[in-house]
Amino acid sequence: MKERRLIFSALPYANGPLHLGHMAGAYVPYDAFRRFNILMDREVISVSGSDEHGTPITVRAMKENKTPEEIAKYYHKINKEIFEKMYIEFSTYIETSWEIHKETVFNFIKRLMENGYIYKGKMVQPYCEHDKMFLPDRYITGKCPRCGYEKARGDQCENCGATLEPSELIDPVCIICKNPPVFKETDHLFFKLSALQKEMESYINSNEHWRENVIFFSKNFISSGLKDRPITRDLEWGVDAPFPEMKGKKIYVWFEALIGYLTGTRVTLNSFKDAENWWSDPEVKQYYFMGKDNIPFHSIIWPAMLIAHGNYQLPYFIAANEYLNFQGSKFSKSANVGFFMPELLDKYDPEYLRFGIYYNLPEGHDSDFSIEEFENKVNTELIDKYGNFINRALILLFKNGPVSFDESLFNEIDIEAMKIARQKHNSFIENMEKVRIRDAFREWMELARYANVYITNRKPWDACKTRGPNCSASLYTLGFLSYILAMDAQVFLPKSSEKVLNWMGFTTPLRINTDPQIPVFKVVTKPEKLYEKIQSKEAIPLDLVVAEIINAKPHPNADKLYVLDLNIGNENRTIVSGIRDSYTETELVGRKIVIIRNLKPANIRSITSNGMLLATEYEGKTYLLTPPEKSKPGDKVTLDDLEIINQEISIEEFKKFSLQTQREGNQTIAVLYHKGRKIPLKVNDENIVVDDKVPEGLKIK
Ligand code: MF3
Ligand code: ZN
Repeated sequence: MKERRLIFSALPYANGPLHLGHMAGAYVPYDAFRRFNILMDREVISVSGSDEHGTPITVRAMKENKTPEEIAKYYHKINKEIFEKMYIEFSTYIETSWEIHKETVFNFIKRLMENGYIYKGKMVQPYCEHDKMFLPDRYITGKCPRCGYEKARGDQCENCGATLEPSELIDPVCIICKNPPVFKETDHLFFKLSALQKEMESYINSNEHWRENVIFFSKNFISSGLKDRPITRDLEWGVDAPFPEMKGKKIYVWFEALIGYLTGTRVTLNSFKDAENWWSDPEVKQYYFMGKDNIPFHSIIWPAMLIAHGNYQLPYFIAANEYLNFQGSKFSKSANVGFFMPELLDKYDPEYLRFGIYYNLPEGHDSDFSIEEFENKVNTELIDKYGNFINRALILLFKNGPVSFDESLFNEIDIEAMKIARQKHNSFIENMEKVRIRDAFREWMELARYANVYITNRKPWDACKTRGPNCSASLYTLGFLSYILAMDAQVFLPKSSEKVLNWMGFTTPLRINTDPQIPVFKVVTKPEKLYEKIQSKEAIPLDLVVAEIINAKPHPNADKLYVLDLNIGNENRTIVSGIRDSYTETELVGRKIVIIRNLKPANIRSITSNGMLLATEYEGKTYLLTPPEKSKPGDKVTLDDLEIINQEISIEEFKKFSLQTQREGNQTIAVLYHKGRKIPLKVNDENIVVDDKVPEGLKIK
């Protein structure tokens, strides 16, 4: 019988589109591991799904004026599509609102109750007198008692990762009305976690193969003593607490969503009995992928629930990744930082996104992401190294192949190349087995770089002009390198690797060969170009130029406005500007300023303003941006590598650009904050400045 594996990834809340942080934290590494196990000929059941209950959904619904159900359905669909586009697959992608899930939850809890692990108790909960409701976890915010973060939620602090009870928050307030709650007693069901202290200790201590971050977090968690946990909430949306005396209460979303792994197995196998068989078999290893904020739920709560249940095996591996940072701050749906997948998928090939994530996987430590670096690595590593090698190698093989294995023909360079290919391949496998996806990817990437050097040095095109033995030897080596690279790439880049393997006449998916001995290499179809480079020049409609004020007079119909005549090089313009409080007419005439040229003309008190000057405000005074001394009217403002187009924009569109002041040395300069980059505004390579006393971080408008 084949080895069997259960491979899970945390069920994302269906309260918003997935972003790059989710992908890097859980799903992209998950998918490599899933594919790897299938290609190693194991029987795999893989499950995730939409976590559709709880306050993350209801809070979102409240904000968008929708029902929780509408929110869940909407984002379930979007997220499912994102996974499909990213080639991230599941045996079953459940929704926790499914009836079969509710039934699984009910049976699970009933069993825990029979085993004496659930009891009814009272607890004091925050209650908002204004909104007439109990405030479950995310309805309340306050200061984190552990790290002091001001915006901790009632269930968890996003900053330090501590799991919290609402009553632990310092200075809590209701998120709806911002009033402080009162605390009232209410009935709830409790999970007797405290009774499992010993078992949990020995479980955690037995898992030496876990990653350091998981061991550390888990040991820390149990060292302070496990406490019983309420598993119900006063909420209208969720899985009903299945007991008459608990009417109106819902099962706490985490307690219920974790059981989704079981639900998904059950749905996949279409049988409860078969699912029990997978879950109870000690030979079936369970792997879980998640971001690090999910660790305690998977390493403590879930195993404890499984122990209390009694019939099932415990998680074998908890692959928790660190955060993918974006200019130093964490990607987060709630904080609205970062990149959402729908817009990224509009712009980039999904394999490029996968590549970018594997290249920079936050496994073991946080990693940083920037679009610039991403585009650069796709072009210079994926395409220039791997893509380029494959294209050169396969075209040679197509023209001059097939070639057979003949040891006597190889020279040292060929032998060395094949040895390295085997080493890298073995170490790829070894790392994948240990869920070191980042390292496995590095080995693969290194082999691609090496192959590229090999082909450049070996110059097979020279040898193949005469088709002598040197030609066959080098072609065989090229075939071998391509074969190893494309075979292993199947876990990272499923589409393009399939193409390569098919060109080489292999049927896909191609089982990972642990001891490759291939008698003949041939290329059966003429290879096309494998990838197209990302054209990284981004165009933005922000046409800023240097202008000289040739005339300044008060606006006839407005106290605070000037009418300014400007020279902008080969054209004169008139603009209206509200800087009369800050500058006299004589201070202005002859002065050089910066204006936006492509702004839609606007009528301001019956005078047409044809552009707008850029300035910032500080302590009630306006400060003009000052272009470099040597600049001339009409000189363009450059923004690093961005291509500037002068397509007309409205003032609203202009306002979306984040122009800010920034301190640099003892100067204050103007920068554009764009996709996580701070791009200085320059004219002829010199900064545009603002008065020295203006501090950093002010908006330029
Ligand atoms: N919905 C949770 C989150 O996004 C993860 C739940 S994992 C589960 O953080 F296993 F409990 F479903
Ligand atoms: Zn309130």
